[in-house]
Amino acid sequence: MTSFEFALLPLLYLLLILKNPPTSAQMMSSLVKPGIFRHLMCRNNMYPRSSVLRYPVSDEQVFWSEPFPDYCPPAYTAPHIGGQVWADPPLPSDTFRPQWNQLDGQVNRESFHGAYNVQNGLPLNPIGRTGLTGRGSLGRWGPNHAADPIVTRWKRDGQGAILANLTTGKNIIQMVAIQRSDNKLWAIPGGMVDPGENVSVTLKREFTEEALNFTDKANMVERFFQAGGVQVYQGYVDDFRNTDNAWMETTALNFHDEDGSQVGQLELMAGDDATNVRWTDVDSNLKLHANHADIVREVVIRRNAHW
Ligand code: BGC
Repeated sequence: MTSFEFALLPLLYLLLILKNPPTSAQMMSSLVKPGIFRHLMCRNNMYPRSSVLRYPVSDEQVFWSEPFPDYCPPAYTAPHIGGQVWADPPLPSDTFRPQWNQLDGQVNRESFHGAYNVQNGLPLNPIGRTGLTGRGSLGRWGPNHAADPIVTRWKRDGQGAILANLTTGKNIIQMVAIQRSDNKLWAIPGGMVDPGENVSVTLKREFTEEALNFTDKANMVERFFQAGGVQVYQGYVDDFRNTDNAWMETTALNFHDEDGSQVGQLELMAGDDATNVRWTDVDSNLKLHANHADIVREVVIRRNAHW
């Protein structure tokens, strides 16, 4: 191919797209990293800690672009979020005027997936229908931002030698997982980003609160997190609390203790929102909250570990 022909490739691609516009499903899959995005936990079930049943939404009916004239989801906002400092006031309101799709004072109302639509004064879930309007138990209208630290080490025997899986021959990686108190599922020890808080601060704070629960060795933990993590995912989370007007998004970073001499040595202790904590072998059987297993899989690929 000549360099002239090569330069024409983007134009040809554009023509192809104009001739065959992508389906909404293709558009969504280009929006969200393939393999990581799912929209299952927040559909066709009872809303957690309530007796509110979501309006049934089939796979084909998820996207807002698909007509669904009968769609009549119930509205639900959990009573306990009223008046909480971490929660927005109710909408519609004469006094509360959120600035959608931007940093609104200290509150980040931007989505990682670009500008979301606002309909009748309420933000619309960028992925699609969930069978429920209102905020459920989420504090913010629109995106609710979390941060997830995936802390890993290699699995070792008593002599300190790294253990490989006999079938794949690849080294086994272990992660710190907590058991969430709200749904009892094992998960990455993440948490919500406080207003104005830098994500890197949230990552260390949540890990310390949920998995260590003490400040012993605080300097080492500080240095370990300061050395920096590798970002493996940023975007929508398939969370059981999502609604048509409120949803979870996260920034997930991997912090790896290569020689197991730092955080890999610490005794773990569950605290805050966690009822249990442990080093967990990572493989394809891993079942975690929301789409956390898909996010952890990214770490496995990058570290060429056993799955
Ligand atoms: C958790 C995060 C999680 C997010 C979305 C938050 O409550 O702390 O770990 O990624 O919800 O499910």
